[in-house]
Amino acid sequence: MAKVLVTGGAGYIGSHTILALLRAGHEVMSFDNYVNSSPESLRRVAKLAGSAAQIVRGDICDRVALDAVFARFVPEAVIHFAGLKAVGESAEKPLEYYRNNVSGTLELLESMKAHNCRQIIFSSSATVYGDAQYLPFDENHPINPTNPYGRTKAFVEEIIRDWVNSWPEASGVLLRYFNPVGADESGRIGEDPRGIPNNLMPFITRVASGQLSQLGVFGDDYETRDGTGERDYIHVSDLADAHLAAQSFAESKVGCEVLNVGTGVGATVLEMLSGFERAAGKKIPFEIMPRRLGDVGRSLAAVERAADLLNWRAKHDLTSMCNTTWNWHSKNPSGYD
Ligand code: NAD
Ligand code: WQD
Repeated sequence: MAKVLVTGGAGYIGSHTILALLRAGHEVMSFDNYVNSSPESLRRVAKLAGSAAQIVRGDICDRVALDAVFARFVPEAVIHFAGLKAVGESAEKPLEYYRNNVSGTLELLESMKAHNCRQIIFSSSATVYGDAQYLPFDENHPINPTNPYGRTKAFVEEIIRDWVNSWPEASGVLLRYFNPVGADESGRIGEDPRGIPNNLMPFITRVASGQLSQLGVFGDDYETRDGTGERDYIHVSDLADAHLAAQSFAESKVGCEVLNVGTGVGATVLEMLSGFERAAGKKIPFEIMPRRLGDVGRSLAAVERAADLLNWRAKHDLTSMCNTTWNWHSKNPSGYD
């Protein structure tokens, strides 16, 4: 069993990962400033797991706070989720994104080094690939992020790689998530975006519940089965399990690895919509709109590398992704509020 510090632990993916870590018997501390989350998620995780993570409120840009946590908790590994993630906002406030995501990670890595913590698992994103030169995206596909958010992920990947290479005992696992959706099957924790959601699944959910009037489908002239955008959606509980596998991998091997985390199976916007209609048992109104600026037509993960190195594969299908999202939202129409 390991002692694991989870930055951004109260967030959507962090809370599901802490649940999986606690259930597997690990000792966990969450470090989060709640800029995009609430500690309520962690209270619910503790009830579900029957054991609790230690909780610290703090900012990864605050080196003093980080040092205090490392000195007190002495973690063997860090799972690093903390960061800002809104693509559109990153174009309006690029420096905020670079400070938070890049400088914050520098502070974290320095603190890790100072306290001899040698394993890091980092939340990267498939957004680093940009437009596909071929599909599915494998980990050697050229990197070409098209917005500041994506660039923070690409830069941090390089920074972690250099940090690991400079320290023979260190290990890093850079996980490039595709499109995380779904919720824990209990319906007690899930995604709780603030304001009007930008992402497809939370938007569809709010149309289904009547909080928003209709879905705008961004483009129907892509080269896909039905012309709408295709993505590799992955259930958040599968993603959580991938972090456990990545942590054991980091424990057993030095050096830096980059791995896609997806299913290898794509769904279009209209397929997602009909999957959700089945889950919610109702029709969901939509209108075809122009393409959204910066969107790619198709994104799909090559999943063999994660399967080979981590012995992990996604298990949940689209039905489970839609059912668990609807279950969470029906039970918590205002999220954690
Ligand atoms: P989230 O916003 O729910 O979680 C991020 C957490 O980090 C939040 O709890 C937030 O309060 C915290 N945080 C932000 N800045 C912080 C700081 N400076 N100090 C301490 N805590 C801070 O997002 P999520 O969907 O759970 O994503 C987790 C990570 O995965 C992020 O790094 C995100 O960029 C990455 N990612 C997410 C997706 C996705 O679609 N959800 C896809 C690829 C990668
Ligand atoms: C999915 C599909 C849209 C909303 C984003 C980030 C990426 C990663 C995951 C963090 C696309 C279409 C959407 C709507 C629609 N996050 N859509 N109507 O753009 O693949 O990825 O989240 O790392 O960085 O860019 O996800 O859910 O926004 O869109 O038609 O109201 O749904 O055009 O085809 P995306 P998404």
